[in-house]
Amino acid sequence: MMQTALFTTEEFEVQKNFKAIRSPLFYVGDKYKLMPQLEKLFPDNINNYYDVFCGGGSASINVKAKKIIMNDVDVKIIELHNFLQDKSSNIEQFIESMYNLIRQYELSLSELEKNEEIERLKKKFKKTYFAKYNKQSYLKLRDDYNRDQTNTELLYLLLVYGFNHMIRFNTQGQFNLPVGNVDWNKNVSTALRSYAHWYNSNNVEMSKGLDFEDFVNSIELEAGDFLYFDPPYLITFSDYNKLWGLEEEKRLYNLLDKLSDKGVFWGLSNMVTHKEKTNEILFDWAKKYSKYSIESNYISRFDNTIKKKSKEIYVTNY
Ligand SMILES: C[S@@+](CC[C@H](N)C(=O)[O-])C[C@H]1O[C@@H](n2cnc3c(N)ncnc32)[C@H](O)[C@@H]1O
Repeated sequence: MMQTALFTTEEFEVQKNFKAIRSPLFYVGDKYKLMPQLEKLFPDNINNYYDVFCGGGSASINVKAKKIIMNDVDVKIIELHNFLQDKSSNIEQFIESMYNLIRQYELSLSELEKNEEIERLKKKFKKTYFAKYNKQSYLKLRDDYNRDQTNTELLYLLLVYGFNHMIRFNTQGQFNLPVGNVDWNKNVSTALRSYAHWYNSNNVEMSKGLDFEDFVNSIELEAGDFLYFDPPYLITFSDYNKLWGLEEEKRLYNLLDKLSDKGVFWGLSNMVTHKEKTNEILFDWAKKYSKYSIESNYISRFDNTIKKKSKEIYVTNY
């Protein structure tokens, strides 16, 4: 196995000719901006590509492989992907139906309509004008969804208008995210069209939503397969980190070691240091593998105007 000095490996410049596609899930911590660097480090000619912690799916949407298989332990994420994939056969009709729903709820629709009330609010509330305008309609939408959670259209609309586009449920299973300062703009329709195009031109399969270890153990691996791991980071903060602790971290590294022993190729995204914190377990474990540093900018969870510079790494066994 290739040995490299720890975390002094080359920096990868963003490829000028690789334009990453944004997922319509606009997922917190998504790999959209990092894909130009990561894709360059993935193996060539991938047979089955396993996106073990798929989240919004940015890694899957921007990879070349014969078949793409996506998994996440969050069944709501799996539901949203299945839903959007189902709509991909006629994405224009779906977008039209969402416009109708937006109008029915009297939410703002900046892609199509200039709204004088929002222009007025913009002057007074520089960072919260959409939130001020949409709050009551959003709360009605949220109540309706919580009354009948089988309607995934409503969940997708909540994701578009919710704070930082997050998907968050309380312990009683009620969607509880507040309204965000966002609305349906042209980026949403563009991302939906790109997703549909990607889905229609690739061989994509969704898992049922398993824990990473159960998912990997259920795979019948073939030659040329590649597994990408983008777990929650132990030393950073996001909603899905609730599901992640030391035990999961150790379980993951054991699994990756076992895969290496079997000669299976994998790649792992992670973060070794963040502010004053260091992930010591990762630091020690990764010594035996190849490491690449990845440039990234993270948006603060508390103030989405502040961008913090953080260093990500990519660890591989090939
Ligand atoms: C960093 S995010 C992945 C982001 C994704 N690569 C993207 O581009 O959108 C980590 C994901 O791991 C999922 N997750 C957390 N614990 C898990 C587990 N035990 N097994 C599988 N997935 C898990 C979370 O739901 C979350 O979506």
